[in-house]
Amino acid sequence: MERTLVLLKPDCLQRRLVGRMISRFEEKGLHLLALKMLHITPDLAKKHYAEHVDKPFYPGLEAFITSAPVIAIVVEGLEAIRVVREMLGATSGLKANPGTIRGDFSSSRQMNLVHASDGANAAAREIDLYFQPAEICSYSLALAPWSRAIDE
Ligand code: CMP
Repeated sequence: MERTLVLLKPDCLQRRLVGRMISRFEEKGLHLLALKMLHITPDLAKKHYAEHVDKPFYPGLEAFITSAPVIAIVVEGLEAIRVVREMLGATSGLKANPGTIRGDFSSSRQMNLVHASDGANAAAREIDLYFQPAEICSYSLALAPWSRAIDE
């Protein structure tokens, strides 16, 4: 099992797509372990996007990501980091394949609706940025035996 951090970005909230995005992860069979709405501060934005802080697009990215609340979610599942990234599609909505979240809902590179951790180290670091360990719920799903075989 892997855990990954998903962020529904300000454009997701403003376009009233939050429910549809959460549904995509639930429908895929991913497990939601923690969820909160918050306003990202410039300080948190710099920590979250540390690898992008020196890039030319960073000032615009910070203005965007702090412009309205986001929904942070811890998602768990088999190979969840790769599976969720593939569900999002390429960074730019113009390049993302149809059927992916960005391919279906975004026409922008910056306003691409959803962020997800790009690897195991990023997932651990990003989950830690948004959640205390006690905020992450552990529970079993009654329908789990109908989601995949025991040996998968
Ligand atoms: P995300 O997957 O959250 O990771 C970094 C974010 O920076 C990305 O989604 C986009 O929102 C944004 N981004 C990446 N590249 C560019 C770019 N060239 N111009 C503007 N924004 C970008």
